[in-house]
Amino acid sequence: MNNITAEIKDWQKKRNAIILAHNYQPAEIQELGDFRGDSLDLSRKASEAEAEVIVFCGVRFMAETAKILSPQKTVLLPDIEAGCPLADMVTAEDIRNRRKEYPEATVVTYINSSLEVKAESDYICTSSNALQLVQKIPAETILFFPDQNLGDFIREKTTKKMILWPGYCPTHMVFLPTELAALKKKYPQAILMVHPECRREIRNLADLVLSTGGMVKWVKENNPGEVIVGTEIGMIHRLQRENPKITYIPGSTRASCPNMKKITPEKILWSLKEMKPAITVPAQIAGRAKLALERMLQY
Ligand code: 13P
Repeated sequence: MNNITAEIKDWQKKRNAIILAHNYQPAEIQELGDFRGDSLDLSRKASEAEAEVIVFCGVRFMAETAKILSPQKTVLLPDIEAGCPLADMVTAEDIRNRRKEYPEATVVTYINSSLEVKAESDYICTSSNALQLVQKIPAETILFFPDQNLGDFIREKTTKKMILWPGYCPTHMVFLPTELAALKKKYPQAILMVHPECRREIRNLADLVLSTGGMVKWVKENNPGEVIVGTEIGMIHRLQRENPKITYIPGSTRASCPNMKKITPEKILWSLKEMKPAITVPAQIAGRAKLALERMLQY
């Protein structure tokens, strides 16, 4: 164990803290985590954890979700600048305006969204439960925010009317059909798996469209020889860690989320020592955002 890891462990004990690391975190941060997972796994872990402090290694909307589900705990995000451009592509006012246009519709919002936006939503979903949630809820017309690609992925599989918002994840935009086709040619036995945040032309080339948690589970259960990974590059470490015998090929080496990479061991240590930056949630939106999140967890 190197010095900084030992110091972090020490402070973790002093603070009664757990470290949650998203699957897109750099390898060294995943290794520091007590739990690794996709956004749904980590929201569950946050709500069940007994620790008094949660150090969230991910981006801001994830830490805010943890705080809403565990208001009595201190939730630290080691770099408060770790945002999500997709989450910033829709505002609460945009949702209110859309609702006026479609008063009969139900609002389903991807967890990659701000607290204000969550508070305006009927249901929250993640990429691992979005399709099932839309199928199950008693609504025929869905206003889906903010990711148009995840929305389109659902639209292809449901008879419900999906009205999409034009948001997107810039990191998932870097995949190119020509590059993926060339990789498939080079590795003809490989399974190409992509995240539903990828564009339709990319999803159409894929053997599987899965959330990051879904990718881990599928690889574990099916033990393929080679996998081309069509999502953020940090995912390769998570997959390697669980199933090291498999060969993983990045769908694009450019698919690196600059916000996920803002978390460093030094910042985690500083956060634990100083107990900041701590996430706070204004009371007037916490209740409504929590309701939309809890509806998701019930499903
Ligand atoms: P997961 O739900 O698969 O963790 O995806 C989270 C995310 O932010 C993808 O960009």
